[in-house]
Amino acid sequence: LVASLEQVDQTYIMVKPDGVQRGLVGEIISRFERKGFKLTGLKLFQCPKELAEEHYKDLKGKPFYPTLIDYITSGPVVCMVWEGVGVVASARKLIGSTNPLQAEPGTIRGDLAVQTGRNVVHGSDSPENGKREAALWFKEGELCEWTPAQAPWLM
Ligand code: TYD
Repeated sequence: LVASLEQVDQTYIMVKPDGVQRGLVGEIISRFERKGFKLTGLKLFQCPKELAEEHYKDLKGKPFYPTLIDYITSGPVVCMVWEGVGVVASARKLIGSTNPLQAEPGTIRGDLAVQTGRNVVHGSDSPENGKREAALWFKEGELCEWTPAQAPWLM
């Protein structure tokens, strides 16, 4: 009921190639699922270079940009869209700081990673970018609008 009065946002979450290679896909999905957000898109996907460059276009020019593009395109990723009130900021909290050594224990990066360049998961940094990235990684028709049955305590 509270949710119906507030803006429902979208966030784009991605298990990066290291997360897939290390068998952490289920673990990572389950953290968002248990929190109570609603999954509206999910696929395993080999990201083409052009898409990685578009996704990270704001970082073009940074010294780590070329290695970041190589890393993201090095193997399949798991693309997801999650919806809910406050989902963008909450997902960033669940994910933890960019540098996994600074990420709090209990966060995904804090529990599961050690290197900034191998930080296992991506999450959009604003509701605007959530929308932008969801539209960038998923075609129309790939996202699924659905109403969870009988669960007013979840979103
Ligand atoms: P950024 O958007 O700053 O972080 P976040 O993923 O937490 O939103 O950076 C995007 C990715 O770029 C980051 O997840 C890992 C990589 N990166 C580096 O490899 N080295 C760096 O110094 C930074 C800041 C980021």
